[in-house]
Amino acid sequence: MSIIFRAAGKALPAQRCTNDDLSKKIDTTDEWIRSHTGIGARYLAEETDTCSDLGAQACRDALKKAGVSASEVNLIICSTATTDYNGFPSNACLMQEAIEAENAACFDLSAACSGFVYGLDCAAGLMARHNWKYALVCGAELLSRITDWTDRSTCVLFGDAAGAVLLENNSEEKARGLGSFILGAQGTGSKYLYNKYGGKLTMDGHAVYDFAVGIMTKIIKDLMEKENLTEHDVDFFVCHQANERILKASAKRLGFKIDKFIFNMEEYGNTSSASIPITLVDMEERGQLKKGMTVVSAAFGGGLTYSGCVFRW
Ligand code: UT7
Repeated sequence: MSIIFRAAGKALPAQRCTNDDLSKKIDTTDEWIRSHTGIGARYLAEETDTCSDLGAQACRDALKKAGVSASEVNLIICSTATTDYNGFPSNACLMQEAIEAENAACFDLSAACSGFVYGLDCAAGLMARHNWKYALVCGAELLSRITDWTDRSTCVLFGDAAGAVLLENNSEEKARGLGSFILGAQGTGSKYLYNKYGGKLTMDGHAVYDFAVGIMTKIIKDLMEKENLTEHDVDFFVCHQANERILKASAKRLGFKIDKFIFNMEEYGNTSSASIPITLVDMEERGQLKKGMTVVSAAFGGGLTYSGCVFRW
């Protein structure tokens, strides 16, 4: 049995905000943001947008591309740090209603930027256990709602977006699908990146940066060892899009060429758990990502959490 990717979808709020737009409101410059992060723009939600709506749009996009009806979906997992409600109903339940996926079990997952890969592993396990055919795994984030717009070292980093994949449990497919996973956390680092009740996102940038480079390097190395892969066997490294410098430093430590690492934070900023699925959508649209290609993904985030997986698209 294989759990394969059938399609990926994305959704963005209408408002695109460039670094120059930000520099009119905040003491920053396009030069500083680009040179420290690789970010050039981000999309920001309007007052009336909701996170579950954005998630539902990304799920609809994936279903449409796959030609699968929402009523066939057995599971919806929404990874998010910005639920519409406080605790319940989950965003996944609101998305179920919006897309009319009445046969799906639904829950939200809280693992910050690592949440999408955590969600893939949860979905794969549940699909195998229940013999479910379809699952939607979505990363949906309205980070602008928890951004501290008075803190220039964090507010320039984040953007709003949703990305979703439709997974299929398919016993015929042997050469494609999800491979090895690594999931983990370092709770001792919870103080470095948090959002207190009623507060805003707070981060120790240096501590998170150091953690990120170390853990991304380790995840990629360990996954490749697990799957017996060399750099040559991997088509792409599709990692959490937090900061260009983190990915470049990780590639350097691994001794890998940078050209297999995908970067799209220039257009979207850091969209937390939405960043990996929206990167997959863009790669497919560019004709870059093709069936059967080998991808290594790695992510890190608040918690501190980390996750990674190998898959054949
Ligand atoms: O998914 C969660 C992921 N989180 C992350 O990936 C964050 C990881 N950390 C980082 O990426 C980096 O630490 C940052 C991009 C957040 C900051 O870069 P940095 O090179 O660590 O800068 P810094 O905090 O050491 O600040 C350097 C200077 C300071 O000025 P002084 O004290 O040297 O005069 C800051 O005040 O840059 C200043 N600065 C800014 N200047 C213009 C900080 N933010 C800005 C800004 N515009 N937006």
